[in-house]
Amino acid sequence: MKFFIDTANLDQIKEAEELGILDGVTTNPSLMAKEGITGKENIIQHYVDICNIVNGDVSAEVIATDLEGMIREGEELAKLHKNIVVKIPMIKDGIKALKYFSNKGIKTNCTLVFSAGQALLAAKAGATYVSPFIGRLDDVSYDGIELIEQIRLIYDNYMFDTQILAASVRHTMHVIKCAEVGADVMTGPLSSIVGLLKHPLTDNGLAQFLADYAKGNS
Ligand code: G3P
Repeated sequence: MKFFIDTANLDQIKEAEELGILDGVTTNPSLMAKEGITGKENIIQHYVDICNIVNGDVSAEVIATDLEGMIREGEELAKLHKNIVVKIPMIKDGIKALKYFSNKGIKTNCTLVFSAGQALLAAKAGATYVSPFIGRLDDVSYDGIELIEQIRLIYDNYMFDTQILAASVRHTMHVIKCAEVGADVMTGPLSSIVGLLKHPLTDNGLAQFLADYAKGNS
């Protein structure tokens, strides 16, 4: 299972990268705005900065919602770095854009996916990644993990290559459940990654080992 971090915060990306287990980064216009990154040039530079920190796929989202605009923006983004993945929304022109980029060998991430039917379309269009937003489904009383299971079954039935990128992951249990049901990738905040480290028995056990060592070696 690949671990992506879902942020545009460079310090958090560095912290996750230094752990040695980071496989990539996802961003979106809201995450960019949260870091105060505005204006096309600054946004472009920020993608380059992220690519220089992480050796893995970095999703960069198009703003256009028409086919021509998505193609123009996506091609510009793809030229920035070999690890850029063009993030395309799940809309009708988005499906056409996914197919266009797939034919050109440019990696894509189909975002804002909330149903199995949408995931099926993304796979048919040749998306590299599909991003079901599990946290946002949970927010409105739908089971996000169930959607991951459903997509896994469909993709396995037909051996689609599209990777299931569980997005809108909010906490450690989302990560664990995604791993149980076979998501290829999860993307979440730094807290959902480092939170996996924590167990009181580990802390107590280590404290005891160190105390016993100190007794025998003082
Ligand atoms: O990866 C998608 C993500 O950025 C949305 O997360 O927490 O805003 O639902 P959230």
